[in-house]
Amino acid sequence: MKTIYYGHSCFSVELKGKTVLFDPFISGNEKARHIDIASINPDYILITHGHADHVADVLQIAQQSGATLVSNFEVINWFASQGYDKGHPMNHGGRWEFDFGTVQYVNAVHSSSMPDGSYGGNPGGFIITSNDDCIYVSGDTALTMDMKIFGEMNTIDTAFLCIGDNFTMGAVEAVTAAQWVKAGQVFGLHFDTFGYIEIDHAATLDLFAQKSMPFILPEIGKEYEL
Ligand code: NI
Ligand code: MN
Repeated sequence: MKTIYYGHSCFSVELKGKTVLFDPFISGNEKARHIDIASINPDYILITHGHADHVADVLQIAQQSGATLVSNFEVINWFASQGYDKGHPMNHGGRWEFDFGTVQYVNAVHSSSMPDGSYGGNPGGFIITSNDDCIYVSGDTALTMDMKIFGEMNTIDTAFLCIGDNFTMGAVEAVTAAQWVKAGQVFGLHFDTFGYIEIDHAATLDLFAQKSMPFILPEIGKEYEL
């Protein structure tokens, strides 16, 4: 599964020939200055919640690509109110079969408001099953017992987990989250972008190594084969 990391919680995966982009926040990320937003043309944009550091570049990328937005009901309605109505609303626990795979919107423990302060529904994550790949994208979240259910009901190959602490779980909790969802490997997100979430790379790598959990600390702009 070809995966490109664009910084913070933004990355894309290729599933069944479709490009699926998550949580675009690039123009506001000082560390992602070398990323050319105009070159990102996904078929879908999946949005975990309404915070600006997850939606800032949704409109630009959607307008240039014609991508379908997938998120909770309130986030999709907000983008419709901004003039982009090509969206698919979901809510927690529900699944939908898209042409790139089956998506379930799942619980996250966090908050969600849109950049203008309007209600952003409840925050979530995604579990996507597509051919031989099953991925879990946590979104911004604390460690939560729900993750045990995700592990019971799915065979998750790669878990994309927030690890930056302060606003979300940190690496200590993310290691446990990885074990609870029974992940084959972990791809770290939501770290180093701002002062509040700067992490110690060596210590983070060591935490995952201690539990023998395969772990990728991605570089912005780099492509990975997962
Ligand atoms: Ni957030
Ligand atoms: Mn965030």
